[in-house]
Amino acid sequence: MTTVTPQTVPTAPGGVPVLGHLPALLHDPLGFLGSLARVGDAVEISLGPRRMTVVTSPALVHTLLTALSHDCPRGTVQGALREAFGDGLLMSEGALHRERRRAVQPAFTAERVAALAGVVGEAARERIERWSPGRAVDVAGEMTALALDVVARALFGVRLAEGPAAAFRRALPDLVRGQIARSLCPHPLFARLPLPLNRRFDAAVRVLDAVVDRTVGGPDGPDGRDRPYGRDRPDGRDGAPAGPLRDAVDPATGRRLDRAALRSEAVSLFGAGTETVSSTLTWLFHELMGAPEVYARLLGELEEAYGDGLTGAASGEPGAGWPGEAPPYLRAVLREVLRLHAPNAFLTRTAAAGVRLGPYAVPAGTELLYSLTALHRDPARYPDPLRFDPDRWADGEGAGDRRLFLPFGAGRHKCVGEGFAWMELAVIAATVLLRWRLAPLPGARAREVVWTTVQARDVVMTVAPRAVRVPGPPGASAGGAP
Ligand code: HEM
Repeated sequence: MTTVTPQTVPTAPGGVPVLGHLPALLHDPLGFLGSLARVGDAVEISLGPRRMTVVTSPALVHTLLTALSHDCPRGTVQGALREAFGDGLLMSEGALHRERRRAVQPAFTAERVAALAGVVGEAARERIERWSPGRAVDVAGEMTALALDVVARALFGVRLAEGPAAAFRRALPDLVRGQIARSLCPHPLFARLPLPLNRRFDAAVRVLDAVVDRTVGGPDGPDGRDRPYGRDRPDGRDGAPAGPLRDAVDPATGRRLDRAALRSEAVSLFGAGTETVSSTLTWLFHELMGAPEVYARLLGELEEAYGDGLTGAASGEPGAGWPGEAPPYLRAVLREVLRLHAPNAFLTRTAAAGVRLGPYAVPAGTELLYSLTALHRDPARYPDPLRFDPDRWADGEGAGDRRLFLPFGAGRHKCVGEGFAWMELAVIAATVLLRWRLAPLPGARAREVVWTTVQARDVVMTVAPRAVRVPGPPGASAGGAP
């Protein structure tokens, strides 16, 4: 048997004195990280005095997240949130994480997800009914508001008042900006410097904390100004939220999660389940504007699946009776959006012990960085990677190794909300597309802003009703064209 000598991770070219690769990373984060795939499957970069190993191959990222997950726990990106919010599923590791995962995961079974689809459809319809024909719609703002509303209503049975919901939306960018800054400068002193960035991050943490208090009931109990929502709102005696987390049981004690645990899980679900979904939907509508033939084909499929969208429940509303998956072309379209715009631009792990990552020897203490966004734009795997082409998934799962499509991660930290997210994306997309005809606002130019997540900015559209609903006997058709 021959043993292969492990290789040393190669160093990226182009570092400048003192700052190393920091200027290149800040100038064009995704371009820079993507370019490293040409250097090696893992590449060392320096950010000032700090060295990080960027993992550029999907196969090695998969290995890191699965086979090496024990030796390579979470790194500084989640560490920044942990300091601010404590131990939730999104922030924790080890035994605590395992217990929390066992407590929260049952809230996301296929049956539970199906049961929540109606709430998602209802939230979507309510929001888009506020849009007016001919008026400009800030798509990212609307989708963030909707995604926040969905988490609050579907998972916690609460309808947030407009004030706190708007404060949350405004705070999100400050939260992710501070998160990336703290993960690039993890020294504890940095977080204490009186910089505007730090002040805004701390303020954003307070806003999110306040929203969570309204949701699960803070130290003073649920806030009466938010309207309880849904039939199964609890009586408030024990502060347990309505919705699927109500039954979450701590496997260590066999009892329902206490308020502190529920708080940290609410932070996790609001933190992980809003911007990811809203940016994916925003990019979806943006991409459809540039691909009229995809838009038309998708509408054709949706009309066939749900009726023309104009005759209400009689023709089947998206979300009513969720069959477990979206119609096939919508699935391919969503998959392609998640490939091209995978929201998690920076994730990290730290090698707690020396490990072998593919051909490379990775010493203990190494910080490992990977970008799910850059990973899915590799021209070696996706020819013409920036082209939006749902036909890449014409065979259902796409050609090749399924483990290499990783927008939801892999292994022990794989997105716990994945099934919920697919349902939510499909129900909202179908609801919007069947109701409104979208058109880009002339002169508006979408921008990609990269922090820890990739945000969609300046996606502005006008909407026109697809048709005027004509009251009439059930089954009567309505006029107008898509
Ligand atoms: C397009 C939508 C979404 C994408 C692309 C996405 C992506 C991800 C990824 C990549 C991770 C793994 C992070 C890591 O390895 O460190 C993750 C974890 C997580 N996601 Fe999602 N997510 C989405 C929607 C949601 C939703 C809707 C929820 C809940 C309502 C959610 C809740 C979570 C939680 C709690 C974790 C932490 C899981 C753990 O560590 O055990 N996500 N997500």
